[in-house]
Amino acid sequence: MIDPFGRHITYLRVSVTDRCDLRCVYCMPTAMKFLPKADVLSLEELDRLCSAFIGLGVRKLRVTGGEPLVRRGVLGLIKSLGRHIGVGDLDELTMTTNGTQLARYAPALFDAGIRRINVSLDTLDASRFRAITRTGNLDAVLRGIFAAQRAGLRIKINMVALRATNDDEFDRMIRWCGDKGFDLTFIETMPLGAIDESRSNQYLPLSRVRADLQTRWTFEQSEHRSGGPARYVNVRETGGRIGFITPLTHNFCESCNRVRLTCTGRLYLCLGQENNADLREVLRAHREDEHLVAAIKNAIQRKPHGHDFLIERRQPALARHMNLTGG
Ligand code: 5AD
Ligand code: SF4
Repeated sequence: MIDPFGRHITYLRVSVTDRCDLRCVYCMPTAMKFLPKADVLSLEELDRLCSAFIGLGVRKLRVTGGEPLVRRGVLGLIKSLGRHIGVGDLDELTMTTNGTQLARYAPALFDAGIRRINVSLDTLDASRFRAITRTGNLDAVLRGIFAAQRAGLRIKINMVALRATNDDEFDRMIRWCGDKGFDLTFIETMPLGAIDESRSNQYLPLSRVRADLQTRWTFEQSEHRSGGPARYVNVRETGGRIGFITPLTHNFCESCNRVRLTCTGRLYLCLGQENNADLREVLRAHREDEHLVAAIKNAIQRKPHGHDFLIERRQPALARHMNLTGG
């Protein structure tokens, strides 16, 4: 699949549910309304869709949410997707998770063929964790992370940089990840969906964070690419690796290789644009994959050149929340 700007689309992110057991303040409002179950694709339908994408040249697949591990039966889907790695159709199967269910699932994820996971963790302080996630228990997540490490999964911590919330914890997180052998990615807040507070108050430009960190840490440019938008540096003092995802201060669209599928079968061509294609209808109308394949190819031809987030201008820039398209 090659889009109109010559970009090869080889990376699919699939949100298997919009539901989540946490309510992070930058992600959703307290009274988040989730999709009616009837709108959500069955696991079999998700499997069929993913397989069609793999047939069209997707080499990397990330399972995300909401929180993917709160969907009942998700392990069956993951195992089924993992079989594509076994036969060489897929290079990598990964997952983004909040870690709350990892203690239970980690060994099974490894057995299914997953080797790397991203875990969202914005603080190492228990009461702060409760405040940011509104409902979460830090201890359960830490137990999950260590269970995953023991199971053989490589771990990357995703930390959303929030002004006046966790902006005094970056050094601590760098040291902790360095000690444990985890990669770390800092993420800038994106204006996706209405939340209870103002996004401008939360927003902290990573350019500023990075400049500040460099007064205390030595960053060496890294050639490492994980197939996503993060650019990495090696931290000389810890031997660890840090990435920065800066959709607002820096444009990473030129090299975009990915598309996103929601749990209702809507294919979003760009995280920061509304262009999408409803694949559910095609999927349900035809038993053969021919029409589905045509619809996917057609959609790729409509992939926009890039996003135009601007946090000051419109709030939110897009009505859709992150838990619909996943991180
Ligand atoms: N802006 C930036 N990151 C977000 N996440 C969820 N909502 C937003 C947002 N509006 C993060 C989660 C997770 C990753 C998948 O995306 O914390 O780490
Ligand atoms: Fe759930 Fe992730 Fe959103 Fe937090 S950021 S509420 S863990 S989907």
